[in-house]
Order: sequence, then C-alpha cells, then structure tokens
Amino acid sequence: MVKVILCLFLSLQIVLSSDFDTACLACHEKKNIPLKPIFFEYLLYYSSKSAILKATKEYLLHPTLQKRLYKKAPPYQHKISQKRLDKLLEEYWERYKVIGKIK
Ligand code: HEC
Repeated sequence: MVKVILCLFLSLQIVLSSDFDTACLACHEKKNIPLKPIFFEYLLYYSSKSAILKATKEYLLHPTLQKRLYKKAPPYQHKISQKRLDKLLEEYWERYKVIGKIK
C-alpha cells in the first residue's frame, strides 16, 4: 500500500513539474507577451539565478508598478500559489538559462 501511494505521489510530481508550457506559456503566447525576452531582461538586470527567481516570484505574487521590468501591458495579478510557483520558476529557469547551452 505504501509503495502504491509512493508511486502515485512520484508520478504526480513528474506531471506537475512538466507543466510550465500549460501553466505559463499558453497564456503568454495567447496574449503575445513572450517569456523569453522577459527572462533575458531579468537576467541582465539581476544576473544571478537566485536574484532573478526571487524578483520574478515577488512580482508574480505581489505585482506593483515599481517592481516590474516588463512595461508594455498593465500589471497582471498572476493567480498562482506560492508552492506551485516555486516549481514552475525552476522550470522557467531551466528552460531559458544560457549557461550549459553554449557549446
Ligand atoms: C492567464 C495569463 C497568464 C499566465 C497563466 C501567466 N502569465 Fe505571466 N504575465 C501575464 C501578463 C498579461 C503579463 C504582462 C503584465 C505584467 O507584467 O504584469 C505577464 C507578465 C509576466 C512577467 C513580467 C513581469 C514584469 O517584470 O513585468 C513574468 C516574469 C511572467 N509573467 C512570468 C510568468 C510565469 C513564470 C508564469 C507561470 C507560472 C506566468 N507568467 C503565467 C499573463 C499570464
């Protein structure tokens, strides 16, 4: 029984950790606000992984005009829980980071 629960839990984790496309990109593509250039703006401004993810998370959870880097649309209140966001931001980083992709 424990094994079954553990297996379910692990497969759920896999499903949850690969949904960056549906949770973030789908809406961004629909609204024509590509995330890649936004990521690079944050990268130039904050440089380190922890600073980028921290600032992005801050903005997404509590958007204000002062905190934002993207200024082409009115601030959008992202409806997402903190826990889910941590996971998705990790994927966001993995998707766009440059280090490790340069050959
Ligand atoms: C339902 C639509 C929608 C979803 C889902 C969504 N976004 Fe956004 N996002 C927007 C809109 C609209 C803006 C532009 C307005 C703004 O900057 O607040 C935006 C802006 C941003 C910005 C720019 C912040 C800045 O500095 O101005 C980042 C970064 C971002 N989104 C990341 C994400 C991530 C990561 C996810 C997935 C967890 C996500 N978004 C999911 C609609 C969405």
